[in-house]
Amino acid sequence: MKLKRSHMAGSLNKSNIGETVTLMGWVQKRRDLGGLIFVDLRDRTGIVQIVFDKDISLDAFNLASELGSEYVIAAVGKVHQRQSINPNLPTGEIEIFADSLQILNKSETPPIYIKDDDDVNENLRLKYRYLDLRKPSMQKNLMVRHETSRIVREFLAAEGFIEVETPVLTKPTPEGARDYLVPSRVNPGKFYALPQSPQLFKQLLMVSGMDRYFQIVKCYRDEDLRADRQPEFTQIDCEMSFVDAEDVIEINERLVQRVFKEILNLDLQLPLPRLSYQEAMERYGSDKPDIRYGFELIDLSELVKSCGFKVFTSAIENGGSVRAINVKGYGDRFSRKDITSLEEYAKTYGAKGLAWIKVTDEGVTSPIAKFFSEEEMAAILEKANVEKGDLLLFAADKDSVVFDSLGHLRNELAKRLNLIDKNEFKALWVTEFPLFEYDEEENRYVAKHHPFTSPMEEDLALLETAPEKARAKAYDIVINGYEIGGGSIRIHSSELQQRMFRALGFSDEEAWDKFGFLLEAFKYGTPPHGGIAFGFDRLAMILAQEDNIRQVIAFPKTQNAQDPMTNAPSVVEEKQLKELSVAVKLEEK
Ligand code: AMO
Ligand code: AMP
Repeated sequence: MKLKRSHMAGSLNKSNIGETVTLMGWVQKRRDLGGLIFVDLRDRTGIVQIVFDKDISLDAFNLASELGSEYVIAAVGKVHQRQSINPNLPTGEIEIFADSLQILNKSETPPIYIKDDDDVNENLRLKYRYLDLRKPSMQKNLMVRHETSRIVREFLAAEGFIEVETPVLTKPTPEGARDYLVPSRVNPGKFYALPQSPQLFKQLLMVSGMDRYFQIVKCYRDEDLRADRQPEFTQIDCEMSFVDAEDVIEINERLVQRVFKEILNLDLQLPLPRLSYQEAMERYGSDKPDIRYGFELIDLSELVKSCGFKVFTSAIENGGSVRAINVKGYGDRFSRKDITSLEEYAKTYGAKGLAWIKVTDEGVTSPIAKFFSEEEMAAILEKANVEKGDLLLFAADKDSVVFDSLGHLRNELAKRLNLIDKNEFKALWVTEFPLFEYDEEENRYVAKHHPFTSPMEEDLALLETAPEKARAKAYDIVINGYEIGGGSIRIHSSELQQRMFRALGFSDEEAWDKFGFLLEAFKYGTPPHGGIAFGFDRLAMILAQEDNIRQVIAFPKTQNAQDPMTNAPSVVEEKQLKELSVAVKLEEK
């Protein structure tokens, strides 16, 4: 007899008592207790207990004794009040007494347990991702992701945004990473680039008069992978015409507020706090600060510029600074050995050391105390508000190293001290980014965001005179220390765009060769416009309260950009390469 499923496992509760139901799903567990067999049946919605009783159906009982883990079954039976209530299970107040059972498919013993807290090697999880995704936590994560995209689509559609698809086979868009290239068979020797973002197309859609565009879209970047970076990832990409930065920020913080309310039932207070880039760096050493905890940076350069410690004075003489973090109230939690381990940590971000001052019952201890006069020491302690029980950690170097090492150290301190509340979410905007940053490798200025970002009006003249001082009409949205989105008001005049390219070191010919289509488009009536892109995976990761985006991507890649399940990327046949006019030449390592 062909059965039809009547209910999902997780939907059953006391109100179903007395009903006959047909369930289909996987065998999570089987326990044999003499005349009774208990089977936990699992589907996407949950787990429910099915009881096979010899006296109800001997056939079903006999078949149930053959069931193994992950067998796919259909069971028909009556919902009963449960004898021994299981408070850990949402369906724990009921159980099903089975009248009949069908085995729809058998399963070999799975190579990984379908269990949330199973601590198995991630490569194995990815090799058997289809099994890994059977875990309730992974199913929940994909559900959070789905719900988030549904809410985003509804919100943006209601605000007048329309979704337009942009090409995947295209020209390189400079977002700062390497491109993935695709050879063209019909145009031998030529390559498409996969988009690092739809940046230019969305701007061209504004030229087209689409007014408000969005797209939930795959982007591809060949860059070093980390916990929050994948080679292919998804953006919620938006662009709007006739707006300034305030308009883009206003609508997008409402979007974030809506998502947090619907997914986590949390009320984000709007407007979100804002920090200028400068202030974010000075206070947190980072342009994506986690503001759930303090440990703000303190600039002590003025106080120590003529002290006896050469490391400090020479850092300042060379244009750098001396800054510190007061680990307020937790000084006694760090032994010398712990401080050495913090120093090792700071060194991974370029710090050359991590000088410290500790104040305990015995007074001040510090490896650098001898370099300071009594007055200097007192002034440092006062400025950094150091009291008994505190620990002051110093970095002295050029600003970029000081910020990077102390910025990461703050996060590390909060982690080691267990100060991070998983259920707290602090979002903010970081604004007034520098327009350029200096690329030491390429020996030239590169765009901090991308070359289409508009300079701030008051800084326009700096483009030719002091580009390093020019600020951009750019904004990032940061949650709990993750950059979850970024955008800007764009340049919409052909002349300004060409000045920008010149400042970036492109000759006019190069600029026209690469972006001629954009410069050309800008001649025909381009509205002022701006937008943003959220890292959808990162947003979903935060909403799912995970700390790795692989946890919210169905089929992610490893740190080496490989997929252990399909074995991509892989070698292709000579014939295929020939068709593409591509030859492979491996460099000797
Ligand atoms: P940006 O390069 O800042 O801006 O990217 C936008 C957001 O995408 C996310 N993101 C990533 N997520 C996972 N893996 C990656 N490799 C990865 N790279 C970026 C981040 C980031 O904030 N075109 C512009 C947007 C604009 O100006 O409108 C852009 O792509 O969360
Ligand atoms: P040294 O004189 O090299 O023994 O260093 C004395 C202390 O200063 C040690 O605690 C070092 O970790 C620290 N130190 C060394 N270089 C730096 C630096 N650039 N910034 C902060 N502390 C440093």
